[in-house]
Amino acid sequence: DSVVGQYEAELTDAPNVPRSPGYKYPEKVIIKLEVVEKVMRLADGVEYNFWTFGGKVPGKFIRIREGDEVEFYLSNHPNNKLPHNIDLHAVTGPGGGAEPSMTAPGHTSKFSFKALNPGLFVYHCATAPVGLHIANGMYGLILVEPKEGLPPVDKEFYVMQSEFYTKAKYGQLGLTDFDMEKALDEKPEYVVFNGSVGAAVAEKAMQAKVGETVRLYVGNAGPNLISSFHVIGEIFDNVHVEGGSLVNKNVQTTAIPAGGAAIVEFKCDVPGTLNLVDHSIFRTFNKGALAQIKVVGEENLKVYSGKQGDMIYQPGAETQKEPDAGAVKSAVPEKSLPERMEQGLVLFQSNCAACHQKNGEGLAGAFPPLAKSDYLMARKDKGAGIVLHGLSGKIKVKGKDYDAIMPQVQLNDDEIASVLSYVRNSWGNKGGLVKASEVSAVRN
Ligand code: HEM
Ligand code: CU
Repeated sequence: DSVVGQYEAELTDAPNVPRSPGYKYPEKVIIKLEVVEKVMRLADGVEYNFWTFGGKVPGKFIRIREGDEVEFYLSNHPNNKLPHNIDLHAVTGPGGGAEPSMTAPGHTSKFSFKALNPGLFVYHCATAPVGLHIANGMYGLILVEPKEGLPPVDKEFYVMQSEFYTKAKYGQLGLTDFDMEKALDEKPEYVVFNGSVGAAVAEKAMQAKVGETVRLYVGNAGPNLISSFHVIGEIFDNVHVEGGSLVNKNVQTTAIPAGGAAIVEFKCDVPGTLNLVDHSIFRTFNKGALAQIKVVGEENLKVYSGKQGDMIYQPGAETQKEPDAGAVKSAVPEKSLPERMEQGLVLFQSNCAACHQKNGEGLAGAFPPLAKSDYLMARKDKGAGIVLHGLSGKIKVKGKDYDAIMPQVQLNDDEIASVLSYVRNSWGNKGGLVKASEVSAVRN
């Protein structure tokens, strides 16, 4: 079977997947990929010097077909500092392309391979130290469609999990870089989908409609952790186990090893937000491993009813007390109000807005408002005790009763000073500057 056509592959950034090209099977496919080293967002207020295939993390999605002959061009941007190469798991041959693709900054390497096996494969940089190149963002997925193609679906998305080992703690603001110690211990600060915290969450969520079938191409770059990939509120109708040809049915959670992938498919039967998680669940709620698909359309109350009742259940009252957070005692230089407002806004959005809402209005009956809160503005500690220790029990805010639990928030004294300064001087509140030393006084 000699090749019958030639074209340059369309490459896409996550969560987009190139359309299946109208193949004349098999073909010669030209792939041009560029390595770019650049500083980008890792989380709100957090930046990292990423190394990328194509300017984003994860790298460009490549789609070819079994039997295709690939002519691969790897370019290393002249502004880059280091040599890089590529090991594609779809390649048969020692190194998977690593040796012929080794490229210095300002050069392009060319090599060719034939796609013998269908499947969804990881590619990554394999330049020494390999772990560092992967940890900094050098990975992506290449789909080798089986000869006969894949069954049609309504939506296809590209999702890739990976970890970041940063010197700074999770969420600490500013530019941070790679920490070898944490990488060796396999203790990442961040575990993310598609290269950053919140890359596909809320207004950036992937979109689908009730009745549509969805196929996710899911990769795990590691460099260390195995993903327990799960979609909250869905059951996978089909899973191409490990990205290969074996199809498992009716799966809740599928394991995706570092340097591995899976293709999962499901039908959207009801509207709502589907949360894509690593069910090693602290990674999701504390390290960033969350992506979302928003499904819009008609309710189907037979499939999922929603709340059908709320009955009182009270076998006995209990009291709860949260343990103290580890005190951060080091003296921090005080900041001006404008500086605190700027930092506080970012901290508020990632630590408080989920409950109290971006506009500070809270949610009726559940989360009290901070906007024009008489309760907050009257407190001697300016609210520091609430953030440090959490809050539970009956309170009255703007004439309404609340009796819920707010967990303590894991921030240091300087950060709490900023978030409180922001809260106490936004949405009509006039509370003046809160100093880190004032927060420390409440903590100690
Ligand atoms: C109460 C601030 C994060 C849930 C309060 C109050 C303040 C406050 C000042 C007192 C009531 C008021 O003035 O309205 C903050 C700040 C946060 C934060 C600055 C971030 C650093 C959260 C989060 C949640 C939450 C993440 C939800 C998980 C609640 C609840 C109450 C409350 C339920 C009422 C507690 C009760 O009924 O006793 N918060 N909050 N807060 N907060 Fe937060
Ligand atoms: Cu590299």
